[in-house]
Amino acid sequence: MAESNALAQSLPSGAETRRIPDPCAIVIFGASGDLAERKLIPALYYLWRANLLPEAFCVVGCGKTHFTNEAFREKMKNGVKKYLSVQPEDYDSLDAFLRKLHYLSGDYATEGAYTDLKSLLEQLDREGGAGGNRLFYLATPPSFFPVAVQHLGNSGLAEQPEEGTRYSRIVIEKPFGRDLTSARELNQIVTRVFKEEQVFRIDHYLGKETVQNLLVFRFGNGIFEPFWNRRYIDHVQIAVAEELGMEGRGGYYEEAGLVRDMIQNHVLSLLSLIAMEAPAIFEATAVRDEKAKVMRAIRPIPLERLSEFAVRGQYVDGWENNERLPAYRAEPKVSPSSTTETFAALKVFVDNWRWADVPFYLRSGKRLPKRISEITIHFRRAPHLLFKGTGTTSIEPNRLSIHIQPNEGMSLVFNAKIPGSTMQIRPVTMNFRYEESFGQSPPSTAYETLLLDSMVGDSMLFTRADFVDLAWELLTPVLNRWREDGRKGLSFYEPGTWGPSESDAFIERDGRQWQEL
Ligand SMILES: NC(=O)c1ccc[n+]([C@@H]2O[C@H](COP(=O)([O-])OP(=O)(O)OC[C@H]3O[C@@H](n4cnc5c(N)ncnc54)[C@H](OP(=O)(O)O)[C@@H]3O)[C@@H](O)[C@H]2O)c1
Repeated sequence: MAESNALAQSLPSGAETRRIPDPCAIVIFGASGDLAERKLIPALYYLWRANLLPEAFCVVGCGKTHFTNEAFREKMKNGVKKYLSVQPEDYDSLDAFLRKLHYLSGDYATEGAYTDLKSLLEQLDREGGAGGNRLFYLATPPSFFPVAVQHLGNSGLAEQPEEGTRYSRIVIEKPFGRDLTSARELNQIVTRVFKEEQVFRIDHYLGKETVQNLLVFRFGNGIFEPFWNRRYIDHVQIAVAEELGMEGRGGYYEEAGLVRDMIQNHVLSLLSLIAMEAPAIFEATAVRDEKAKVMRAIRPIPLERLSEFAVRGQYVDGWENNERLPAYRAEPKVSPSSTTETFAALKVFVDNWRWADVPFYLRSGKRLPKRISEITIHFRRAPHLLFKGTGTTSIEPNRLSIHIQPNEGMSLVFNAKIPGSTMQIRPVTMNFRYEESFGQSPPSTAYETLLLDSMVGDSMLFTRADFVDLAWELLTPVLNRWREDGRKGLSFYEPGTWGPSESDAFIERDGRQWQEL
């Protein structure tokens, strides 16, 4: 196996104490695609180089595109080198890893391809490759998910013995459905073939170190929970901003839009981690139960007053660094009269004892000024202005920012006296940065964590069927209304701005402002 090196030290905290997964075969459907080359294979190599994969492990890439094993390995080698820093001293371990990769071309919409796949997996097992364990990874367009699941069921590949001596699991990429009906249909198809404990619906945000640290921050410290409620918190903001536009993914985006792409999964997951109650034990069912309870408590968005609760926007053309950027409507595979949103801001309430009347403002968009994901907890102002006799007319409320990306960490803003003979007050920031505290950044993507978790069977960071259902239940009526409204109510914004002016007006109506990011 690969030698231990610096990479092992940069693994998620706790990884050192995790068990190495049992031998297994990872079958990637859509292995010729972008996700496999950019994220999955580099993440697997990262784990391999850090000695976190079993020796008896293999990857079978599946797709229509024809590759020999060698050609597939070469393509993946390029991917690893492009997306991970691989030093000359790592070349041997990379070659050893690449020998674990295989490719099987076929039409996976037909039964025959699964017979071939089964034979190959059995052959790899006999050669000591995988110990009979299989992890199927659906990295294809979602339209293929039902077909693959059904064929995996019919071919017997989904079966696992009751006594748990070997496993068959499925990892399903986002998006999981495009509305409540389609998500339910897909869930039905999946659960006819796989038991819930075999299903790993991926939301790569949940694999991010800072997101996992949210649980530690809230429930591993005694001092924060007492003020984590409506008595002390005025409101919460969750922002996920992207600087890029479509980057060739206009066809996908035109069908999806911002809410389906970002809010239904990532942003609502973050919200549930911020708002959930403490689970009794640190275990997948307990944690996911609490997350689902938050989703159940979210007040339906009132469609008759939709503009008070939701804003949608779309970017127009503009300039950046002397480069002309196209409008969304001019992106390839996008309709010139598209009403798909590339920006959305929502206000939701979690109607329970802890959060009654505390607004959660959710904001996300494409072509914003920078790529940043941040949660900000805005606390209530100090109840009494003690210093007004000294010329201080108001003081800033405290604020806790959780930086998910980039510069993972947290910062707390509080007020301090400016040194000198007069009583002047200004906010100061106390920072925690992963890099500074632990001497390393978290892994480059969250896929390392999530792939390892799915191999050891830990589903805590994956989305359960009820969560998906509840998320769609909340958002589908809004999406339907927007579709009916078409152009009406759609605002426009220039690239490099924080969305349409209606978004500022939306939060300012409540006497609040968007957090500067
Ligand atoms: N790329 C990302 O950064 C990213 C991030 C998060 C989530 N995802 C999700 O990951 C999945 C894959 O994304 P991607 O960007 O890798 O897509 P992609 O580059 O389009 O690749 C998808 C692969 O799926 C196969 N495929 C395409 N159409 C198919 C069909 N009708 N039936 C069966 N196979 C088909 C293709 O391989 P063959 O033609 O060889 O069969 C193709 O290589 C999607 O669900 C996406 O939403 C992607």
